Amino acid sequence: MGAETQVGIIGAGPAGLMLSHLLHLQGIESVVLETRSRDYVEARVRAGVLEQGSADLLSSAGVGDRMRREGLVHDGIKLRFEGEEHRIDFRALTGRGITVYGQQEVVKDLIQRRLDDGGQIWFDTQATSIDGIEDHPGVSYCRDGKALRLSCDFIAGCDGSHGISNGGGESRTYERSYPFAWLGVLAKTPPATDELIYAYHDRGFALHSMRTPEISRLYLQVDADETMANWPEDRIWSELRLRLAEPHLQPGEIIEDGITPMRSLVIEPMQRGQLFLAGDAAHIVPATGAKGMNLALNDVRILAEGLSAWYRSGSRDQLDRYSEQCLRRIWRAEHFSAWMTGLLHRDQGGDPFEHKLRLSYLRYVTTSTAAATTLAENYVGYDQLDRRR
Ligand code: FAD
Ligand code: DHB
Repeated sequence: MGAETQVGIIGAGPAGLMLSHLLHLQGIESVVLETRSRDYVEARVRAGVLEQGSADLLSSAGVGDRMRREGLVHDGIKLRFEGEEHRIDFRALTGRGITVYGQQEVVKDLIQRRLDDGGQIWFDTQATSIDGIEDHPGVSYCRDGKALRLSCDFIAGCDGSHGISNGGGESRTYERSYPFAWLGVLAKTPPATDELIYAYHDRGFALHSMRTPEISRLYLQVDADETMANWPEDRIWSELRLRLAEPHLQPGEIIEDGITPMRSLVIEPMQRGQLFLAGDAAHIVPATGAKGMNLALNDVRILAEGLSAWYRSGSRDQLDRYSEQCLRRIWRAEHFSAWMTGLLHRDQGGDPFEHKLRLSYLRYVTTSTAAATTLAENYVGYDQLDRRR
């Protein structure tokens, strides 16, 4: 026994929620199944950088009002190393910028809009398995202790890196792990900078980001097996001050903290029968390039186009090309994220030769227009398909 819909979406992160909204704009019905509560997903602190293409997508889909009011538009970033500071001017180099706006704000805006539009998001509902993906797809789920099944035409696996939709089948997984992680804090202290600071230091990488004029988001490179128990607040602040070389950074109340491992992963193809993977369910990037949420939004933009073409005309051509279309951008972001990670993090053994190579490349990227443009056009979002037009 169970319910029916056109598209069954597993996961209410940026991918699942945006897909549900884009489908609604095309008159296509969906149900989003989310294992966590609404409060939990709205409070989950994660990424914070929107490429211009992502910000434009939110606006053109009618869910960008608060982002345009409260998001912070930045035209560049700062790189600090060896006591030097250099700015990479995205606007001058690419004509584009970024918007700093927390992922949980994007999630809140999308949830509110879906509910205002009468959309179905089933919180506290765990998808347990999928079946029939070649002809009669369905998602089995558990809600209020009952086991039920949702029948649908298509399943969108938007359930992140620990979901259930990306196992099985003939897909190939490409992956890389890193020996370090990021310790991230959200703190009640005004940002000590007007643009993000990426700092390379003998003691490891640090990043100064922000959410509002009162709230800062700060990260430190730590070992992969590090735990928060080893990081009392005063250690976090003194390490941040040292690595960022930022005298104006004032300690403030830490509202949230956590350690995120660094991983690169791509699953190919991202589709099988009537099942389509999107976002972290299909690929993971180390956070240095700020690409995770942007890739998730781009996947579902392409998936929504394919699904609406199918419902409109019965043509599967676009859907059949879904994975191929997404993967070009995904691999560019995978390369950029791995490259930025290698450039800005100390390796575990502290190899002096690697250190000198990194410093040399940092000097190159901050003095050569060609090298700076490479960084800038990847950071703001590079799409080979756009370039061919
Ligand atoms: P998610 O946001 O993970 O959403 C998946 C949803 O599916 C979740 O709500 C989950 O609860 C739900 N779900 C999972 N399994 C089931 C199931 N069986 N049934 C129902 N629902 C299910 N990127 C950056 O660029 N910078 C950062 O600083 C950064 N920090 C991060 C910190 C953490 C701790 C994590 C995990 C990721 C971080 N990322 C960061 C990556 C970025 O946040 C992700 O790329 C982004 O969340 C991808 O969106 P998504 O919708 O694909 O997946
Ligand atoms: C943020 C996260 C990132 O991974 C990044 O590269 C830049 C900013 C952030 O959370 O603000």
